[in-house]
Amino acid sequence: MTREIPERGLQIIKDRFDAEIWSEYAPPPKHVIIEKAANVDALASLLSDKIDAEVFDAAPNLKIVAQLAVGYDNIDVKEATKRGIYVTNTPGVLTETTADFAWALLMATARRVTEADNYVRSGKWKVGWHPSMLLGRDVYGATIGIVGAGRIGAAVARRAKGFNMKILFYDVVPRPELEQELGAESVDLETLLQESDFVCVHVPLLKATRHLMNEERLSLMKRTAYLINNSRGPVVDEKALYNALKKGRIAGAGIDVFEQEPTPADNPLLTLDNIVVAPHISSASHETRSKMAKMVSDNLVAFFEGRRPPNLVNPEVLKMKPPSKH
Ligand code: GLV
Repeated sequence: MTREIPERGLQIIKDRFDAEIWSEYAPPPKHVIIEKAANVDALASLLSDKIDAEVFDAAPNLKIVAQLAVGYDNIDVKEATKRGIYVTNTPGVLTETTADFAWALLMATARRVTEADNYVRSGKWKVGWHPSMLLGRDVYGATIGIVGAGRIGAAVARRAKGFNMKILFYDVVPRPELEQELGAESVDLETLLQESDFVCVHVPLLKATRHLMNEERLSLMKRTAYLINNSRGPVVDEKALYNALKKGRIAGAGIDVFEQEPTPADNPLLTLDNIVVAPHISSASHETRSKMAKMVSDNLVAFFEGRRPPNLVNPEVLKMKPPSKH
């Protein structure tokens, strides 16, 4: 295990398996993962661990990688599949928590919550009330555009109903249920960017989504619009975002994920007032992290009992060789 995970899953794993756990807060260096992988049947990973061909080549007994996250762009699934290695993730249990946090970012950017907090703490609040102090933008009744309307995107859209918002969405797969349930409108990406007051990105990181929000697409957004991203950092071109925010091409951004994590302290984005940032914590609630940990243990236990792990992301391995009983 590349890190200690919440007790609910950790205890099961410790009870059932001979587990070696990296107990430091910081991740194990790649060479340590490679060295330890030499003797393991299973690896429990986090999204910050790069699990690629180099790791697989060093791990002749490795049969399953059980990741504590819904996203698994850190794992070379193609290489795993080639070797018959199962890969599992933790979908579903973090959907609502992640949608809540997208909304936390949305509200915080629109109403300048972190700026306001800083204003008070730093002693800048010298006049009790002023009609133009820290003006933001209305959320209620505005238009929200969901880029990627899967589980999380749909959960964000459902919350928008309560704010009487017009809901637009763009997805590569049809989502008629969203149109029926929420009266949401499926549009192309350009239309979504041009018409939305809040653009919320909820796509997985794939080749096709890397820098999906580039300079050209950011320039389609309204000058008064906000970009919210709590999917994966590389989906947004950070340099282009910096320029758009700096030049006032868009009003603001709420960002929980970065191209490089941790983001360097000298990231120019951090010099801007019109951005709210967080350190990739969208699923970070006690309840959800505990459920995610349990899912990791469920996937491992199922596999080693010879059953199909409930959250297998590469079912092609099932055709290659049956899960062996250990
Ligand atoms: C977190 O980013 C996750 O993919 O679960």
